[in-house]
Amino acid sequence: MKTLLKIVGVIVGLILILVLYVNLSYQVDFTEEYPVDESLSVEITPERIAQGKYLAYGPAHCAHCHVKMEDVARVDAGENLPLQGGMEFTLPPALLRAPNITPDAETGIGDLSDGSFTE
Ligand code: HEC
Repeated sequence: MKTLLKIVGVIVGLILILVLYVNLSYQVDFTEEYPVDESLSVEITPERIAQGKYLAYGPAHCAHCHVKMEDVARVDAGENLPLQGGMEFTLPPALLRAPNITPDAETGIGDLSDGSFTE
């Protein structure tokens, strides 16, 4: 029994040393800007708009988060409501709120470049 405890103690000690070593030698730097290809330009065509609408209100479920919480049932019923945001997710300690992604340049994402949008 004593030998078993010694072996377990050595293994736990080695794991602690390994965890300490990894934590002390691990360097994370989040200061680097995410690269955005500002030269990217996507042509707006009626086909692309229709495909985006189909995806956003259909299989991609964008609308299920980017409408107000009380409007989700209306989206389910097939209404194409403006994607003005509002759905909230409480993930302590954070509160995430789905933002307005309408094409409005001030309140939505209308002023995002194609490169930023696809990043
Ligand atoms: C599960 C819920 C959910 C779904 C589904 C969802 N989103 Fe979001 N979206 C969010 C949340 C929450 C944020 C805000 C994240 C943050 O604050 O970091 C966000 C952020 C965004 C942003 C950034 C807006 C800004 O102002 O920078 C865009 C663009 C976006 N979503 C587009 C989409 C598209 C397009 C789809 C469908 C393909 C989609 N989202 C589906 C929850 C969702």
